[in-house]
Amino acid sequence: PSLEKDFLPLYYGWFLSKKSSENLRKTGQAFLDELGSLKVFKKESKYFLPAEDPKVKLDLTSYFAKRPPSVLHCTTKFTDFGKAMGADEYAQQEVVKASYGKAFTLTISALFLTTKTAGARVELSEQELLLWPGDVDKILPIDNLPKGSRAHITLGCASGIEPVQTGLDLLEFVKLEKAGTKGDEIEEIGGGKLLYFGNGMWMLLLSKKIEVKAIFSGYYG
Ligand code: A2P
Repeated sequence: PSLEKDFLPLYYGWFLSKKSSENLRKTGQAFLDELGSLKVFKKESKYFLPAEDPKVKLDLTSYFAKRPPSVLHCTTKFTDFGKAMGADEYAQQEVVKASYGKAFTLTISALFLTTKTAGARVELSEQELLLWPGDVDKILPIDNLPKGSRAHITLGCASGIEPVQTGLDLLEFVKLEKAGTKGDEIEEIGGGKLLYFGNGMWMLLLSKKIEVKAIFSGYYG
């Protein structure tokens, strides 16, 4: 048995280049700025405001104040240093070992926002899907969603929310889509078509998908 087998990262994923990371943060920020200024959003902003003080001014940038500290990433498998379910099985796959340290291009098709998180939806290629774990595209054990449904990049979290929530929020959108709720088309804004799914769930379908450069690797904390 090899020694390194016992020391897995906190998580595996694609880590954006510094430039791609900065650009995506800017795009996300522009989306928050524009959405926050829209009348329709203000009319629906009660989901983001404290019930006891619904008149306070909502600033989405300070609302999503917990932002990833370093370069942005798209988690594939959270291995928790080997303690997570399926960690060893994931790490031992040939494709995982062969792809480690290799460059990829990720395609971002949408930005989304809920009362808990803000993120970017990632559309994985067939080759990238080979690195996607088989057990993460569900909220409930009975959920049956397409492979890669959860693929995302966390842009920000509300106070008290952990980044793991972003993927779960994206799965909520996908479940609604699967149930036939495509979201109300609100209007065209900078960057694409704005959809509202109710309950403070917003999605911007990008008219021009964003491609970002990223390295597949592990994060040890
Ligand atoms: P993501 O933002 O892609 O969902 P933490 O800092 O909380 O330890 O998490 C490190 C990263 O691992 C987070 O950015 C989060 O990524 C992801 N993550 C944390 N917990 C889980 C989990 N239980 N399942 C899947 N991904 C997780």
